[in-house]
Amino acid sequence: MPEIAFYNDSFVDINAKVVPIQERAHQFGDGIYEVIRVYNGRPFYMDEHLQRLQKSADAIELQLPYTLNEIENLCLEGLERSTLKEAEIYIQISRGIYTRQHHFPEPSCAVFTMTIKNARVIPENKRQNGMKVLTTEDDRWKNCYIKSLNLLPNVIAKQKAKVNGFDEAVFHDEGIVKEGCSTNVFVVKNGILHTYPALKGILHGITRSIVLKLASETGIEVVEEPFDMNFLYEADEVFITSTSMEVMPVCQVDDIEFSTVRPVTHKLIEKFQTLKD
Ligand code: PDD
Repeated sequence: MPEIAFYNDSFVDINAKVVPIQERAHQFGDGIYEVIRVYNGRPFYMDEHLQRLQKSADAIELQLPYTLNEIENLCLEGLERSTLKEAEIYIQISRGIYTRQHHFPEPSCAVFTMTIKNARVIPENKRQNGMKVLTTEDDRWKNCYIKSLNLLPNVIAKQKAKVNGFDEAVFHDEGIVKEGCSTNVFVVKNGILHTYPALKGILHGITRSIVLKLASETGIEVVEEPFDMNFLYEADEVFITSTSMEVMPVCQVDDIEFSTVRPVTHKLIEKFQTLKD
């Protein structure tokens, strides 16, 4: 079986029951994570993901149990063991296993978890036609730039989207469009690309920063400023980005449908594809 896992210093079967009751990841959600895509056996933008992992760790005063170099080597070893070529590496670091108490364990005893699984496949018709997104009030905390394990509002919003026939939910804060449950949001208006700025209120997506770089290399003007729901509804093009969705067109926001003529989105999709080679 190619899908594998690693928990607290050893490789384990992906279905092995290894997590102790007093693991802080499931008692408090006290930890951070990363998701890295692997194309043709090679992790995509791994350095950027590891740097963000370090940033999240610093933000919650979590001492990583391994150096970034050691984590990279564990990922590569895991990939080799799995033999998967199109994969998703999930890394999670929790504050460890300790008697349940809110304050930090002393000394630090962080636990590293990793799974390497087949990459999620997005149906081709979604890639072509686009996804439907539902807007919902942002009821998350103020530090969404930290890739924290606490994803309850994201889980609830995604479920709300699903039961209403949508693919993704997009958070707005009193009408200001922030990001999706698991994606960043972009709007094209009069040829200019708009997205919420990389402040503390959103995750600074790796795909987001790749897209911003591709846009400026292509001569597409970029504006990183907050915009409201009306601006979103009146957009010429909308797309969302993430490690697993890449650059995904949006065909509908709430009950507003968008044109399938998407020159800027298609240009960026095309450019993005060339990075995988
Ligand atoms: N989600 N915003 C949020 C809230 C996210 O959870 C994610 C990623 C993104 C996009 O970030 P990136 O481009 O670095 O993947 C934006 C991951 C993939 C997940 O939770 O599965």
